[in-house]
Amino acid sequence: MKKIEAIIREDAFDKVKEGLKAIGIVPLTVYPVKGRGVQGGVPPYDLLPKMKIEIVVKDEDVEEVINVIIKNARRGIPGDGKIFVSNVEDAIRVRTGERGDIALY
Ligand SMILES: Nc1ncnc2c1ncn2[C@@H]1O[C@H](COP(=O)(O)OP(=O)(O)OP(=O)(O)O)[C@@H](O)[C@H]1O
Ligand SMILES: [Mg+2]
Repeated sequence: MKKIEAIIREDAFDKVKEGLKAIGIVPLTVYPVKGRGVQGGVPPYDLLPKMKIEIVVKDEDVEEVINVIIKNARRGIPGDGKIFVSNVEDAIRVRTGERGDIALY
């Protein structure tokens, strides 16, 4: 299992969410964040509002999810966002006690 953390533009979120749904990835966590990339914000703003999406996915779905995020979030200009991928040890669905991939979606 991998955790995909994507920090994207606020106005790209709906498209990304729908794009993920279209490939069967419905569950996600999202929160508004502030951040800056290599440009260090846009004067006079040091930090810019972004949306952060967290999704834990099966290993086999990682590339497809990344591609959907890119396709729906890229404008081709600085600030489009960034995606981080990390390993996840386990997942547990509280209702059933199911563990691992089957607990994800
Ligand atoms: N190395 C990083 N660590 C943590 N968060 C980051 C990192 N790089 C970018 N971010 C987050 O991602 C957001 C979007 O980054 P951004 O798209 O500006 O990346 P970038 O590396 O500057 O690329 P670009 O040159 O295309 O703008 C930032 O506002 C910040 O919240
Ligand atoms: Mg940037």
